Amino acid sequence: MPAASDPYDAIVLGAGGAGLMCAATAGQRGKRVLVIDHAEAAGKKILISGGGRCNFTNIHTAPDRYLSANPHFAKSALGRYTPLDFLTLVERHGIAWHEKTLGQLFCDQSARQIVAMLLAECDAGGVTIRLNHGITAVTHSDGQFTVAHGDKTAAAPALIIATGGPAIPKIGATGFAYDLARQFGLKVVEPRPALVPLTLGGEDLLFRSLSGVSTPVIARHGKTSFREAALLTHRGLSGPAILQISSYWRHGDSINIDFLPDAPSGWLTEAKRAKPRASISATLRAHLPDRLADALAERLALSGDLGNLPDRKLEDAQRRLAAWSFTPNGTEGFAKAEVTIGGISTTELSSQTMEARRVPGLYAIGEAADVTGWLGGYNFQWAWASGWAAAQAL
Ligand code: FDA
Repeated sequence: MPAASDPYDAIVLGAGGAGLMCAATAGQRGKRVLVIDHAEAAGKKILISGGGRCNFTNIHTAPDRYLSANPHFAKSALGRYTPLDFLTLVERHGIAWHEKTLGQLFCDQSARQIVAMLLAECDAGGVTIRLNHGITAVTHSDGQFTVAHGDKTAAAPALIIATGGPAIPKIGATGFAYDLARQFGLKVVEPRPALVPLTLGGEDLLFRSLSGVSTPVIARHGKTSFREAALLTHRGLSGPAILQISSYWRHGDSINIDFLPDAPSGWLTEAKRAKPRASISATLRAHLPDRLADALAERLALSGDLGNLPDRKLEDAQRRLAAWSFTPNGTEGFAKAEVTIGGISTTELSSQTMEARRVPGLYAIGEAADVTGWLGGYNFQWAWASGWAAAQAL
């Protein structure tokens, strides 16, 4: 490895949300910062996020909306850099925004504005950004981390791992963070795709014929539930309710779907009294998309008029419709996942600074660490907050 020439206080690996936030903040605190990324552009995930409008934070951010082997880990960083802090930055850059739903804040115009804002902040901090530079080796000796990248080498007493997780490899996402963590002896919690569509097989396969149908549901896994839309796809289940519950799902588990979340108890027997000559399928069509109503009616196997069906059977049917059990046979994997669950173990990191306890000077931030947020701006808020926290310690 050639000798490092440029003097830096910190090298940030990864020019995504977490890396840029960390670099800009540290740079503006007077640190000399180098950012290295193998992609040809910074913030590629930001650019494709939120349908191109970037759901950049969620005003309901709270630690219980994050999954981690240590549910307390995210508290400190999230408490010190809040959605309001990021919003203040967004407004200072004159970026117009709106709340879409459930506290989710989006750009009015384009996610490009968020990347431009972060790059401007890096510029204000005198940060050097090297894109298109593959990292070929990282070594550590005499308190210095040396990074060989492309035909260059740089060294600094602090190294920040901000290379994210492997979700959406086609835009350059990799598991590099985990390789590097292992190189330094840090534990990695098994990475799995999260916020990802679930696939169906076996008896559930029949639902795949309903591809394109969407309806509001409550999706449940154990004690966790999400009330949002579910979408039936040609491979299984998707839509926000399913993406949310997928983060809690593991192979072999079932999930339950309440197809009629607003139906009061006893509504089907009431419907029988009100319209005894209606079929179950016609009754369900009043509340659900026609194709879904027909498919559910067929699986309930209740033929004939409601008036001829005993109340007990209708009560059973109602219970089933409120907790329809699916046993997904998998997920659509990292190719379709929005995030990775798992990652560099939080037991290795200080929750105040994100520094590795056993390797002074080494930090892990953003998605690389074992902290995963719900759908809806929570993951970017973690990227900003963890990047900011590390920058305070550099
Ligand atoms: P991120 O992945 O953003 O950045 C890592 C950087 O490291 C990249 O620039 C990459 O090129 C680089 N890198 C990787 N491997 C490398 C290597 N070996 N060498 C050098 N560089 C390397 N979240 C949210 O809150 N709101 C939203 O609207 C969305 N929308 C969304 C849509 C889609 C399609 C996806 C895939 C994801 C989202 N997310 C989201 C999740 C969000 O994008 C994600 O949690 C953050 O981008 C994570 O930020 P990081 O900076 O940690 O990693």
